[in-house]
Amino acid sequence: MGQGETPSPARPPSTAKKAGDVEGPTWAFDTIAVHGAHEPDLNAGSVLPPIYQTSTYHYPAPFSEAREPGRVHLYTRVDNPNQEQAGEVIRRLEGAEAGRVFSSGMAALSAALLGLLKQGEEVVALEDLYGNTVTLLRDDFPRFGLKVRWVPSDRSSDVRSFLSPQTRLLLLESPTNPTLRVHDIGLWARVAHDAGALLLVDNTFASPVNQNPVALGADLVMHSATKSLGGHSDIIAGALAGRTSLLERMDGFAHTLGGSLDPLAAFLLVRGIKTLPLRVRRQNENGRAVVEGLQGHPKVERLHFPGSASDPEEKLCQRQMRGRTGMVSVVVRGGREGARRFMGALRLIHPASSLGGVESLASMPVETSHRQLSLEELHRRGIAEGMVRLSLGVEDPGDLLADLKRALDQV
Ligand SMILES: Cc1ncc(COP(=O)(O)O)c(C=O)c1O
Repeated sequence: MGQGETPSPARPPSTAKKAGDVEGPTWAFDTIAVHGAHEPDLNAGSVLPPIYQTSTYHYPAPFSEAREPGRVHLYTRVDNPNQEQAGEVIRRLEGAEAGRVFSSGMAALSAALLGLLKQGEEVVALEDLYGNTVTLLRDDFPRFGLKVRWVPSDRSSDVRSFLSPQTRLLLLESPTNPTLRVHDIGLWARVAHDAGALLLVDNTFASPVNQNPVALGADLVMHSATKSLGGHSDIIAGALAGRTSLLERMDGFAHTLGGSLDPLAAFLLVRGIKTLPLRVRRQNENGRAVVEGLQGHPKVERLHFPGSASDPEEKLCQRQMRGRTGMVSVVVRGGREGARRFMGALRLIHPASSLGGVESLASMPVETSHRQLSLEELHRRGIAEGMVRLSLGVEDPGDLLADLKRALDQV
């Protein structure tokens, strides 16, 4: 723009809905999933939002005076309307004040942990976390002077005894990957708050359909949005939801880390979330059907499903979850070789290491998500070498069971 030209008007207002929208707070969960991200586009009147596939934005100079959050964007690593829309619908589904999206679940987690903690501070973490989360805490944290105290699953109700005066954050997954144990989020939140610490819950396995950690006392919720939020195995994405003040404390560092979500992936995430409740409820039903169908099967040594580990865990599920999951871990007779034969004989269910999509997948945790752990560490977490983790999709339950039983016959 030459000297003396007038700056062009500010871009159209962000189409992400904001807290306090007149209709928003009264909507039920399923309506929020469909309509909670955006208004119809103001420029073209399209029902779906445009994909703002741009790295940067034109702005009226001087930027500092023109900037009004949500109206003028700067640079897509920092903000973008598609990212805002995805963050907005996720925060509403989680019942949180604010939401952010990231280029992966791990980008969300590292932004939260590295953005909120400082050298010398400690995290108290459940031992049964996703494999790469364990790697981050165990192998990378020490380089930044951050410490971790690990809580074995069986001592989860005694988490208080693991805290020290340096503890600033507690980290929990429930149900856990891949053993599907259930942990008391309300208890961990009380223990954290009594010590002036925060609780972060990875809610990937439950999804906001089955569980809302914020309502149970968590300060921050994290998702691998690659999984059921996206729901179609076509994007890698992550999300955080929680108090505005906490997310704002972390924002600057998150932008420096640079794990921002591509606008097309953010658009696909919002598109996927519209059917989240329908998909997850069907997956819950398929989970139940597979557990019932494989119970007592001679080639099955053990089935892992939320609530199956013990009576107290079943009661806890009833208290803190609205539904269970489409995740079932099957321990096949014959150890690692038996599991390999079973995987190789599946025809409908794809061998692949992700979860939460419309298509059913099977993976062996010892060879995929938890391959970084030693045999001793696997054993301590109850991850058998013959374990096959099933992520049930939305197919017909009869077809899924037929595939599983036929494959088990060949073990
Ligand atoms: C429970 C859980 N948390 C976090 C992650 C990491 O997410 P992403 O792969 O999107 O970085 C995964 C990925 O499998 C996961 O299963």
